[in-house]
Amino acid sequence: MYNSKIIGLGYYVPDNIVTNDDLKEFMETSDEWIQERTGIKERRWIDPKTEDTTAVMGVKAAKVAIKRAGLTKDDIDFIVFATLSPDMYFPGGGVQVQDMLDMPTIGALDVRNQCSGFIYAISVADQFIKTGMYKNILVIGSENHSGGLEKSTRGRNVSVIFGDGAGAAVLSRSEEAGKGILSTHLHSEGKHAKELVLEGPSTGRWVPDILEKNDPDDVSYYPYMNGQFVFKHAVTRFSEAIVEGLEANNLQKEDIDMLIPHQANLRIAQFIQRKFKLSDNQVFNNIQKYGNTTAASVIIALTEAWENDKFKEGDLLVLAAFGSGFTWGSVIMRW
Ligand code: UT7
Repeated sequence: MYNSKIIGLGYYVPDNIVTNDDLKEFMETSDEWIQERTGIKERRWIDPKTEDTTAVMGVKAAKVAIKRAGLTKDDIDFIVFATLSPDMYFPGGGVQVQDMLDMPTIGALDVRNQCSGFIYAISVADQFIKTGMYKNILVIGSENHSGGLEKSTRGRNVSVIFGDGAGAAVLSRSEEAGKGILSTHLHSEGKHAKELVLEGPSTGRWVPDILEKNDPDDVSYYPYMNGQFVFKHAVTRFSEAIVEGLEANNLQKEDIDMLIPHQANLRIAQFIQRKFKLSDNQVFNNIQKYGNTTAASVIIALTEAWENDKFKEGDLLVLAAFGSGFTWGSVIMRW
């Protein structure tokens, strides 16, 4: 068995900054409400006049990660692409990346696990490397939320939270014991699927029903979230996933050097910080600038933390996420 290790990180966010005050153009809201409840000050939303899409942003992040890894696109053996906002219903973003980067006909797998998408994607890539099947895997999380939000007072509890962006990591084979990904832990609880959901477009009855009923109040093509219900589950599941990861490696909470939580809500991250008695320097948050970028959030945060020297070689990193599905998980990593 081999180990896997991140050898290159990159991220990309659109230039277009949308502040909380800018949102008042479309809906009744306030900077005070948004900051108090979520910590968010601004987010990036794709300017539709630009070329950016979920796949295009993923490619931009990937180019940075591959270069920093000291590799070329031809060294990559496999792509794992996580998103909840693909450019097309099918095929997914993985094959678009393979094409846009002009890569050989390597495999491309799409992961659809929303906010925990990147955790799932890293876990999948880790297994392929551990077994020796692949050497260098490009793992991408990318989201274009702004194209699908209900930007009105009716949709404000969801639309103020989400932002666009992408992050990428190159995960590679390593023979150094005790370094890199130590373990990954994945969970789901599908009975809560409808608490944070985007129903359409989908197969089943969605298309015929919406055409037949032609009901202007049917907004099942916009995301729905039962915010307080999701919040309560998030704090519990985040904690469980972190504890599970630590226990699997015979580690204590005191061993954590850096926690990179999914950027769902600053209040959730602060709750976890208090619970695990971590200092401000041991938890990295950037939701203030980017909002919640779901599958891109953990990898953008990890990249930004790395760029800003927030952790060093040998540090114990914990990545954790929770979101729609419900799905959640953690990654324990020695940098
Ligand atoms: O990444 C996936 C995981 N996601 C999460 O973990 C998100 C978890 N949930 C949350 O972060 C919070 O539930 C929210 C930030 C989404 C909402 O905060 P809340 O404290 O749960 O607010 P609420 O939805 O219960 O709404 C409270 C009030 C309502 O008004 P009334 O009925 O009390 O008069 C809303 O209509 O706030 C109102 N409201 C807003 N007001 C101004 C909801 N959204 C807004 C808004 N601006 N954007």
